[in-house]
Amino acid sequence: MNIELSEKLRSFPPFLFEELYRKERAERARGKDIISLAVGDPDLPTAKPIVDCAVREVRKGANHRYPNTKGNENLRKEISAWHKRRHGLDFHPGDEVSILIGSKEGIAHLPFAVLNPGDYCLIPDPTYPTYRTGVILSGGRIHDVPLEEKNGFLPDLGKIPRKVLERTRLFFLNYPNNPTGAGATPEFYKDLVKWARKNGVIIAQDAAYCDLYFGEPAPSILQAPGARDVAVEFYSTSKTYCMAGWRIGWVVGNSKLVCALNQLKENIDSGPFNAIQNAAAFGLKHHESIVPPVRAHFKRRADSFCAALESAGWRFKRPGGSCFVWARPPVDCASLDAVYFMLEKASILTAPGSGFGKYGEGYVRFSLTEPDAKLREAARRVKALDWTKLK
Ligand SMILES: Cc1ncc(COP(=O)(O)O)c(C=O)c1O
Repeated sequence: MNIELSEKLRSFPPFLFEELYRKERAERARGKDIISLAVGDPDLPTAKPIVDCAVREVRKGANHRYPNTKGNENLRKEISAWHKRRHGLDFHPGDEVSILIGSKEGIAHLPFAVLNPGDYCLIPDPTYPTYRTGVILSGGRIHDVPLEEKNGFLPDLGKIPRKVLERTRLFFLNYPNNPTGAGATPEFYKDLVKWARKNGVIIAQDAAYCDLYFGEPAPSILQAPGARDVAVEFYSTSKTYCMAGWRIGWVVGNSKLVCALNQLKENIDSGPFNAIQNAAAFGLKHHESIVPPVRAHFKRRADSFCAALESAGWRFKRPGGSCFVWARPPVDCASLDAVYFMLEKASILTAPGSGFGKYGEGYVRFSLTEPDAKLREAARRVKALDWTKLK
C-alpha cells in the first residue's frame, strides 16, 4: 500500500540540519574526533539529591497510577512557592500553573487552544523551531518578526504591519534568548504588555533559560503591570536543573490560557510520571542550593569560550545568559559555509544561524553543553583556524 502522509505533516519545513548530520557521520567514519557544539543538551548530571529523591519516589506504589494532566499538587505548590521567592509573584497552584511534559510539549500545543485557521502568530526570527509546530498544525499563519543585533535581538514592535496585527492572536518570545543569548529587561516587558493589551495579542514568553543568567537575574514578563491579562510564561527544568531527559516543564500566568491548555492536554496526554514530578518539586524546593553552581559553571564556560572566540576575531556580543554563543565568524560568509569549514578543518560541529531563520544568516551558534575538557579543546581548535582558507 502506498501510505500517503497528511498535507499538514508534509508542510513542515525539511529538517535543516539533516545534511549537516550526514556530513558529521561521514567525518566520524573517517576517524575524525568531532566535538559537537550543535545541540543545547546539558552535559552536567542532574544534582544527586534530586536523583536520590526520584529513586525514593519510584518505589512508592501510589506513584505508579495515572498522574493528573495538570500536574500533581506537590509540584504545582512548589512552583508557586518558587515564583514567589524568585519573582515576588503569587500564582494559584490550582488554575494558574500547569505541568508539561517538557516545555516543548506545551509550546507546541498552545496554538491549538487559541488560534483559529487564518489567525496570525508572530514568531521571532531567528527562532526556536517548535514555536512554528502548533501554528502550522492548527492552520494558523506565521509572521516572522526579525530579531536584529542592532536592537539587542529584541523585536521592533512598530515594524509589524497593521494588516497582520489586525489578525494576530499570539506572539511567541523567548528570553534569555535561544539562539542569540540576549536578555530582556523589565522595561521591555512593560512596553510589550502594554502593546499586547492594546492590540489584543496573547504573549507566550518562553523562559526555558531564565535561570542561566550571567548578570542580574532574568526578569519574568509576569512582573509587568497587567501581564496576567494577556500572558503566559513557559518554564523548563531541562537547563536550570540539568534535567533535559526527565521531561518536566510548566506554564504559568493567565488562568484562562493555563486552563485552556490543560483542557486540550486532557484530551491528549495524562501528564508526566508522578515520581519525576516529585523529584522536580524537590529540585524547586532546594533551588537556592542546587542552581547557583550550575549557573556559575555555564558562566565560566561562556567566559573562557568567548575569550577564545574574541582572540580569534569572531564578531559577537557576549551572552547575557543561556548556554549559547551566537557569533559571526572572522570573515563574512554564509552560516552553512562557516559550519562546514569548521567541521572539515577543525572537527567542530556547530549550528548554522540560517537554520533558525532568515535573520540568522551569517551567524553560527555554539552550544556550551559539552564537558569542560572538550570545550577547551574546541576553543583551541577555533583559535587555530585560518579563515583565509575558506573558499
Ligand atoms: C528556547 C527553548 N524553549 C524550550 C525548549 C524545550 O525545553 P524542554 O526540554 O523543557 O522541552 C528548548 C530546548 O532546547 C529551548 O531552547
